[in-house]
Amino acid sequence: MNDAYFGNKKICITQRRYLGSKTKLLSFIDSILEAENIEFNSFADIFAGTGTVANHFYNRSKIIVNDILDSNSHVYTAFFGKDSIREGKLKEQLRYYNDIEIKKYGENYFSKNFSDTYFDAENAKKIGIIRDDIEKLFEEKIITNREKSYLLTSLIYAFDKIANTVGHYDAYRKIDIPNKKLFLLPLDITNSRYSAEIYKDDANELVKKIKADVVYIDPPYNSRQYSDAYHLLENIATWKKEKVFGVAKKIDRSHIKSKYNMKSAGVAFGDLIDNINAKYILVSYNDMGTAGNARSQSRISDHEILSALKRRGEVKIFETNFKQFTTGKSSKDDLKERIFLCKVSIVSKSNKSVIASKNNPVQVGFVKSPLNYTGGKHKLLPQIAKLFPKDIKTFYDVFSGGANVGINATAKNIVCIEKNRYVVNLLKLIQDDNFEDLNQRVIDIIDDFGLSQSYIKGYEHYNVDSSSGLGQYNKSAFLKLRGEFNKEKTRIDLLLVLVLYSFNNQIRFNSNGDFNLPVGKRDYNGSSRKNVAAFNQISNEKRIVFKNYDFRDVEKMSLKNDDFVYLDPPYLLGLASYNEMGGWTEKDEKDLYALLTRLDKKEIRFALSNVLEHKGKINEIMKNWAKKNGYRVHKLSYNYKNSNYHSTAKNNSTIEVLITNY
Ligand SMILES: C[S@@+](CC[C@H](N)C(=O)[O-])C[C@H]1O[C@@H](n2cnc3c(N)ncnc32)[C@H](O)[C@@H]1O
Repeated sequence: MNDAYFGNKKICITQRRYLGSKTKLLSFIDSILEAENIEFNSFADIFAGTGTVANHFYNRSKIIVNDILDSNSHVYTAFFGKDSIREGKLKEQLRYYNDIEIKKYGENYFSKNFSDTYFDAENAKKIGIIRDDIEKLFEEKIITNREKSYLLTSLIYAFDKIANTVGHYDAYRKIDIPNKKLFLLPLDITNSRYSAEIYKDDANELVKKIKADVVYIDPPYNSRQYSDAYHLLENIATWKKEKVFGVAKKIDRSHIKSKYNMKSAGVAFGDLIDNINAKYILVSYNDMGTAGNARSQSRISDHEILSALKRRGEVKIFETNFKQFTTGKSSKDDLKERIFLCKVSIVSKSNKSVIASKNNPVQVGFVKSPLNYTGGKHKLLPQIAKLFPKDIKTFYDVFSGGANVGINATAKNIVCIEKNRYVVNLLKLIQDDNFEDLNQRVIDIIDDFGLSQSYIKGYEHYNVDSSSGLGQYNKSAFLKLRGEFNKEKTRIDLLLVLVLYSFNNQIRFNSNGDFNLPVGKRDYNGSSRKNVAAFNQISNEKRIVFKNYDFRDVEKMSLKNDDFVYLDPPYLLGLASYNEMGGWTEKDEKDLYALLTRLDKKEIRFALSNVLEHKGKINEIMKNWAKKNGYRVHKLSYNYKNSNYHSTAKNNSTIEVLITNY
C-alpha cells in the first residue's frame, strides 16, 4: 500500500488532546530519574490515559500500562500489543473507510444519536458505518483482536481531531460550519524488544497483582470524571449501542466512575500506595489546591499524599512550571506540576495480606469496627478466633456491639444480634450504602457543623499536635451536632459522625435515652476512614445480617448442629459503661446460663466470653455453672492498661476467659 495516499502521515500515540496528558512532562520525569540514579527494568503506568508516559519508556524497559477506560485500552493494544498485525491489509481497510460513499447506506445507531452534535450528519453517519464494519470483521474472524484495536484507534484519533468540542465531550459547540472531513490514518507503531503488559483494571486492584521497579501514578486531580469527559470514546469502544442521555448524549457510566474524582480520593490513594509492590513510586499531582473553580480543585491534599508515601519510605518532591491542558475554565492554567518520588523501603500490605475476607480465610489481621464498643473484642480476637470451630454454617454473634467478632468470623452466614437499636442501625447504615456515598455524607455533615478534617489538612492547620488532639477545636461543633441528633434521634448518619468524633469512638446513652459522650481527641482521620471503608467492604463480601434482638431471641432462630453461637454479654464483674444504663442484672445472668445449658443439650456449640475474676472478686455463679456442666474454661491474656475500660484494675487482677462446650 502506498503511504502517499495518507500524505505520508501517521498517528503518533502522543498526538491526542487529553485532560491531564503528560506528553510535555516527559523530559521532567527523565531528569528526575537521571538525577536520582534510578535504574529500572520495568515501568508501570497505572493511570495511563493516552499511554504517552509508558510509551516513552518502552524503548528501554518492560512496561505495564493500565487505565479503567475501554477506549484507552484499545489504544494500548494497538500500539503495544504482542500479536503481529498485517499492516498492509489494515492500511487497505483504512483507505476503504476513507473512501466510503455514505449515500449507499441507511441511517445507523451513531447517525441517529449524534448527527449535528459533536459531528455533522455526514461524519456521524460515516463513523457509524465504519464502527459497524470493524465489529463485523472481528466477529467474522477476518481481523484479530489487536487489528480491531488498530482500526478502532485510528477511528478514535480521527474523529477526536474533527469533533466539535474543546477537547472533551461534556458538551459540543453549536455547528455553524460543517466539521472537517473524517480521515483515518495508519498508526506509527515502534517495535520494542521489551514486553508490554496491558490491563483495564481499577488501579487499586491492579497493584495487588503486579510488580514493577517503578510505578508511576498520575490519577485524576479533580471532580471531573474521565468517563464523563470521554463518554463518546467509550461508546465507540464498547459499541453496545446503548441508550444515550441528556444534551451531551452520554451512555450509562456508573461502572467506570473513578474514586479519584470523589471526595474520598484520599482514602483510595492511601490504599493504593499501601499495596504497591515496587522499588520506586512516582506520583504526579499538581498544586491546584483551592485555586480555580470548585470543579477543578484537587481531590487529594498534599498532607494525604505525603502521609501515604511516607508510610512506604523516603519522599522527595520535584516541581516544574507546566502549561496544562485544562478545560479552559480554570483561572490557573500555568500550574506548578509536581512529582513526588518515594524510594520504597517498607514492604507492601498486599504482600502481608492483612484483611480477612471470604477469599482470605487465613486471618492474619482483622477488620476493626469503627464503633469502639466498651469491652469490644478487637484486641482479644486473635486469641478467641483460634478457639472457634472451623466448620460453621451460621455464626451467631450475640451481644455483638460493634460486631468486631461477627465481621471477622469465617462461616457461610453470620448473624449479629444486639439489643441496642442505635448500634444495629449504625452498623446497617455502614453496610448498606456504598462507601463513596457514605463517605460523602459523612464529609458533608463534617462541613455543615464545622468539625475538623485533620486527614485533609493535617494537625498543623488546627495548631495542635497528635498528643493534645482536636477535642478543644471540635468541642462546640460536636455539642451542636449532639444536640441536633438528640432532638429526633432518627438521623443515624448524624450519630455516625458523633461516634467518629466522640470520646474513644464510643457510643453511650443516658437514662433519658440521649447520646451523652463528650468530644474526643480524634476526628475522621486516616484510620477511622479505613475502618469504615473496611467494615463496609467486608460486611458486603460476607453474608452478614444485623438484628435488633434480645439475646433470648437466639433460640427462636431454628439453630442446627452445624451452627455456632458466640456470646459476649455485659460482665457482672466488669462494670463497663453499658451497665450504667441499668443494663445487666443477675436475672439476665441466670437466663443466659439457662439458655446455654439448653443449647448444649441440643448439641449446639457455643463459646462465651466473660470475666472470671476482677479485683479479687470471683464470678461464682459462672464458675460453678461451668464446672457442673464440664465446660472448658480457656484463660486469655489481656492487657487492660492499653484498653478503653474505665476500670482501674491492675493487670494481674482480671482474668478474662472463653468458656466453650466443645
Ligand atoms: C491524569 S489522567 C492520566 C494522563 C496520562 N498520564 C497521560 O499522559 O495521558 C488519569 C487517568 O486515570 C484513569 N483512571 C481514573 N480512575 C482510575 C482507576 N481507579 N484505575 C485506573 N485508572 C483510572 C482515567 O481514565 C484517566 O485516563
